[in-house]
Amino acid sequence: MSLVQSQIESFEQNGYLVLDNFVSHEECNKLRVRASEIVNDFDYNQSVTIFTTNEQTRHSDLFFLESGDKIRCFFEEEAFDENGKLKQPKELSINKIGHAMHDLDPIFDSFSRTEELETVAKDVGFEDPRILQSMYIFKQPKIGGEVSCHQDATFLYTEPVSVKGFWFALEDASKENGCMWVIPGGHRYNLKSRFYRNKKGNGTEIEILDGSKWETSKMVPLEVNAGTMVILHGLLPHMSYANRSNLTRHAFTMHLIEASADYPEWNWLQRNSDLPLRGF
Ligand code: FE2
Repeated sequence: MSLVQSQIESFEQNGYLVLDNFVSHEECNKLRVRASEIVNDFDYNQSVTIFTTNEQTRHSDLFFLESGDKIRCFFEEEAFDENGKLKQPKELSINKIGHAMHDLDPIFDSFSRTEELETVAKDVGFEDPRILQSMYIFKQPKIGGEVSCHQDATFLYTEPVSVKGFWFALEDASKENGCMWVIPGGHRYNLKSRFYRNKKGNGTEIEILDGSKWETSKMVPLEVNAGTMVILHGLLPHMSYANRSNLTRHAFTMHLIEASADYPEWNWLQRNSDLPLRGF
């Protein structure tokens, strides 16, 4: 499936593109089942890491930093009560699974590596794409936290900027259950910050390049049905509000970079040399 010219132009103009019915509900369900198995097998007493975009620095620890070439589960910020006990069952407390399911898990691998996706990647400008990371995002009911407005190139930097996100709704996403919001055309802004792995390699830092505020009044919600794919330019500002509803809002996302772009060694996400980046 190739994109038509009007879709390519829309992506170039707006910095995002919504493709309805891109994957079947059956494919969505396969990922949901596999994700639930991974969470079931996850022994959280070993390694509790909470994920939050607002305060990544505070919570970034080695469990997170070493997950670039592994499959690991991360808790929601509000998952635990003051006594350190989970407020909801484990399966309703995980923020996300990351970051190498596309390479290490056969179900995620076959979802991520299709001819259709390779064609779409080329259509939106990739010459030789590499799948850098994958994330399964739960956006849990009641406790699923806000993801503050950001550009993906802050976290996945290349020189020149080349990252693009392929985001898949595995369930219907609405304003009620914390859908994604974007600033149409916002990919023309400069990169506002960069997220570094520190020199010791045991933590992270944010470098502010442009301290101006996001024009959040220009945000529009992307309310989409399960099976929809959204392509996001790496400089497009996007966010999602907390999910205070009773509904889950599962999504799968993968980020691609250009093979020829320089990938700095200070990016938080690093992979062991025995698991090199691959394309489709
Ligand atoms: Fe993002």
